[in-house]
Amino acid sequence: MKISKLIGKEIYDSRGNFTIRVRVVLDSGVSDFFDVPSGASKGSHEAIELRNTSGSVLPAIQKLDVIESALKDIDLSSPLDLDKFLIDMDGTENKSNLGGNTTLGVSVAFLKAYSKNIGVSYYMTINKLLNSLLKSEGIVVDINIPVPMFNILNGGQHADNHLLLQEFMVIPTQYFNNASELKKKPVSDYLNIGATILHLLSKRLKDENFFYGVGDEGGVTTDNISDSITALANISDAVKSSGYKLYDDVCFGIDCASNYYYNEQTKEFTFDNAKYTSESLLPVYLKLLDDFPISYIEDPYPEESFDDFASLVEDSSNSTLIAGDDLITTNPVRLKKAIDNASINSVIIKPNQIGTVMESLETVKLSILNDITYIPSHRSGETLDSFITDFAVGTGAKLLKAGSMQRGERIAKYIRLLEIEDELNGNK
Ligand code: PGA
Ligand code: ZN
Repeated sequence: MKISKLIGKEIYDSRGNFTIRVRVVLDSGVSDFFDVPSGASKGSHEAIELRNTSGSVLPAIQKLDVIESALKDIDLSSPLDLDKFLIDMDGTENKSNLGGNTTLGVSVAFLKAYSKNIGVSYYMTINKLLNSLLKSEGIVVDINIPVPMFNILNGGQHADNHLLLQEFMVIPTQYFNNASELKKKPVSDYLNIGATILHLLSKRLKDENFFYGVGDEGGVTTDNISDSITALANISDAVKSSGYKLYDDVCFGIDCASNYYYNEQTKEFTFDNAKYTSESLLPVYLKLLDDFPISYIEDPYPEESFDDFASLVEDSSNSTLIAGDDLITTNPVRLKKAIDNASINSVIIKPNQIGTVMESLETVKLSILNDITYIPSHRSGETLDSFITDFAVGTGAKLLKAGSMQRGERIAKYIRLLEIEDELNGNK
């Protein structure tokens, strides 16, 4: 299979910022495209996005011509061949030559066109590629419908309010309570949980005359809540009024994105209106995990704090997922370091943090080999593209972070989950 054309287009993401659409045209005439997402609370080890000073992605689009000519006449038997080519051609640690937005656009668009050309769904191709990487280990991963982690209240860099913690999530408990039952819940049951609790929390805030808005990932945002305990208490009340049961049906997750409330100069955290060191913050987190049904905590410490993460893993219950996002940036080298330090038991997978599908799958493979729960994730600046859902299903992920049950770019990921479920059940 050969690529005959790469076409770039400057489009907008869900925040109205520029991003790139890459279309790959194969020599067979089949084509497909990928709209690349973009983060706001980025880790400094992420792949570099090519943009000019006004945010335009034209520099990334210009690179497509260079890649297209370099690929001329090269026969690609698998999407992994293309990704290896892109990694070699870029030749840097962080894709600063071609741009991570450029390479991911080409990588995913080719995987999609390749799948279309042979008549299989994107998630099937992902599954086949992951299993080819795992073959030497004698491991076979099955496709799986993941449980969504619904963002419900936004703070940090995703909302213009006083809440420093970035994301509060409600999560159907299937993964945490009864992993063997995972496949038995229809997707619509999960979505109903996310939508019902979101609507009740929104109503609660409006009834109390709180300022009400919608954050970047579709969770609600309010000026009237500035600490995590009040936030979690309000979400608990919304759950109680829904008829779903805390602990039995629904648990919570938080993404601290703590880079945002950590001061590098003073080494202090400003958390819930008080100042802490990393040592004095630990008991505060442990109490929060004890007082509320929190089963998941992401980036509780900044991106270089491998040892502080390890202290939280050691002191919290085994069933709590301690996840690295900015800490790992979907980078297998950083994941290896975290595994060696026992810093995490869960990792966020964002393909645009590393720049190719193959490297994202390498990070998933390392997670599988070390019993780390891997969670594919959207970005706060999203597009209507739902490839991340196919990626999650194809890698057999048990959980998926795709935002709230409002805003079209978030809902697109959940609609894709419904479509895949239908396809797997034989109902087209
Ligand atoms: P980002 O946030 O896409 O703005 O980086 C998402 C997250 O931190 O999980
Ligand atoms: Zn995060």
